[in-house]
Amino acid sequence: MRLTLRPDTPAEALGLAAGLVPEPIFDSYVALMQARTLMVASRIGVFDALAEAPGTADDLAVRLGVTAEGLAVVLPALHALGYLTADGRQYSLSRKARRTLTVRGRQALGDWMAFTHDMWDAFDGLEDVLRGGRIQNIHGFTEDDPYWDRYMRGLLQISKISAADVARAIGAPRNARALLDVAGGHGGYSMALCRRHRRLRATIIELEGAARIGHKIVEEEGFSGRIQHVTRDMHTAYLGAGYDIALAANIIHHLDRGAAVALLTRMRGALVPGGRLAVFEQERPADGEAGTQIGTLTGVLFHVTSGARTCTAGELTGMLVDAGLRDVQVKRLRRAPGQVLVLGRA
Ligand SMILES: C[S@@+](CC[C@H](N)C(=O)[O-])C[C@H]1O[C@@H](n2cnc3c(N)ncnc32)[C@H](O)[C@@H]1O
Repeated sequence: MRLTLRPDTPAEALGLAAGLVPEPIFDSYVALMQARTLMVASRIGVFDALAEAPGTADDLAVRLGVTAEGLAVVLPALHALGYLTADGRQYSLSRKARRTLTVRGRQALGDWMAFTHDMWDAFDGLEDVLRGGRIQNIHGFTEDDPYWDRYMRGLLQISKISAADVARAIGAPRNARALLDVAGGHGGYSMALCRRHRRLRATIIELEGAARIGHKIVEEEGFSGRIQHVTRDMHTAYLGAGYDIALAANIIHHLDRGAAVALLTRMRGALVPGGRLAVFEQERPADGEAGTQIGTLTGVLFHVTSGARTCTAGELTGMLVDAGLRDVQVKRLRRAPGQVLVLGRA
């Protein structure tokens, strides 16, 4: 998927084809207004309120406790963006808003939207980081900070898009019994693997703040009997032994190469002979390749938030080989654009 300009009129189509459109205005100015309007509309509850009943700016303002003047400018913008439909002054949800931005939506992303505010704040530091300034440590919050709830529940929602595919692509035997999920946080991937492997039990190694929320989530989802969170630092903790599967999803991009290979080596050591190790990551394009928007831009985000960066499939393959894994292979999944799954055997 790619964000791209789509003309509203035939004249604009001609202008676009002729190279006359000032594209950076849309890619920066329009994109930032769009992002912030959508983020705030979601946070103040516009979409869930409209899921209950269509409304005008005036009556929604009363229901949400915001100004009618403000909503009178926000609602037409959401209409233009395709998230609302309008009948005179009365607004309703479009199908995509109902599916993605309401609590009961089939692909609900409200928690993810709440977390985008944290990423917005983090991205504010990009120039400073590029000039050698302070890296923002997104894992440095105290364990009871409400940040962990937004972080874990946001990531859980996006993990649901691809977790079942990841679980299938790992290709472990159906009777696998033990999973080590390093930095598994919310437990989305552990739960998907437990759904696939009936006898599987998972151990998630996590920081305290993430483990507290992750434990609550697996309890809410009915998996607390099969998934345990162990509060330890993955760099130093004894990881255990006898696992059939070891997973590191979206953590390698926070580490430098030395730390990543050291972690993968210890994960390999925790597996039974022939056990599977899986790394699931945003993908950095190889030199000279264009890459995906989402894969490369999350690379920028992770640099701001941890000082490390995403890796190419070749770099990840090299890490698994150096960590002593055999039969290393790379897979890309249909529902995980910009991401890559790298697998090896102990
Ligand atoms: C981007 S999240 C990935 C969560 C999950 N695996 C996923 O793919 O959605 C990174 C996770 O790494 C955890 N983490 C960071 N440093 C850690 C450490 N030293 N030990 C254990 N977990 C750590 C964070 O708490 C966070 O939950």
